[in-house]
Amino acid sequence: MALENSRKGKRIEQAEKSSSLLLMEHKVYQGTLVLVNREHPVRYQLPPKDLRPVFPQQPGILMEKESAGMLRKLLSHIQNGQEGIVGVSGYRTKAEQAGIFESSWKENGREFTEKYVAAPDCSEHQTGLAIDLAKNCPEIDFIRPAFPYHGVCQEFRELAAGFGFIERYAKEKQTVTGIGEEPWHFRYVGRPHAELMQREGLALEEYIGWLKQFDLERRPLVLQKPELTYRIGYVRAQGKLTEWKMELPKSRIEISGNNVDGFIITLALKME
Ligand code: DAL
Ligand code: ZN
Repeated sequence: MALENSRKGKRIEQAEKSSSLLLMEHKVYQGTLVLVNREHPVRYQLPPKDLRPVFPQQPGILMEKESAGMLRKLLSHIQNGQEGIVGVSGYRTKAEQAGIFESSWKENGREFTEKYVAAPDCSEHQTGLAIDLAKNCPEIDFIRPAFPYHGVCQEFRELAAGFGFIERYAKEKQTVTGIGEEPWHFRYVGRPHAELMQREGLALEEYIGWLKQFDLERRPLVLQKPELTYRIGYVRAQGKLTEWKMELPKSRIEISGNNVDGFIITLALKME
């Protein structure tokens, strides 16, 4: 049976045995694991129908729908999460990112702007998978909002990976990401990837590279959870159409492009 990812979307529930996947080249640039930075600009425009608000009081702060749902779920696990934490900036169009970049350049200069604002098309905010959050205060800085390492914000931070979110720009990874420390900027990569990145201490740039050693058939990355086993592998894109065949166990399968050169396939197998 051939499953075509352009038709079915990235998620195919309950894949059957001995499947062949047809991976279209343009899908390299879509999915929850896309790496977006100076070297790897955004190449996919998320359709507006796939955006959702996160906070009921802030209908203008949008995220890609799966990310928005997981963020709401995460906030509901924190006492006063929806009141103590507010959204500052979620999905941005290219024009919005350009406007922020230009006004910061005028107000704050080059060094500050290159440290804290990505150039148009180099911002994760254009994917809908990133959000800046702040502690709910009367004064909130738009570019560098306060998201402290205590109280409700710290509680959020500690739960984030379990819901598929990573703190994207860590202090010790500034030379890897090319961006300054941003304790307020969270990026959805999905489960179990957020947890694996945390366990391995890897920034998204490093994680995307590290995953390339894993092959779903011969050498998968395996993560055992009480209720599920995850098997993860990388498939390099081979031009316009990549055909990938494998004896698939009964599982949920998720496919994401890496926005560089291939796909990451994640199988989630239920424990019998
Ligand atoms: N603040 C991050 C780097 C952005 O502008 O996307
Ligand atoms: Zn941000």
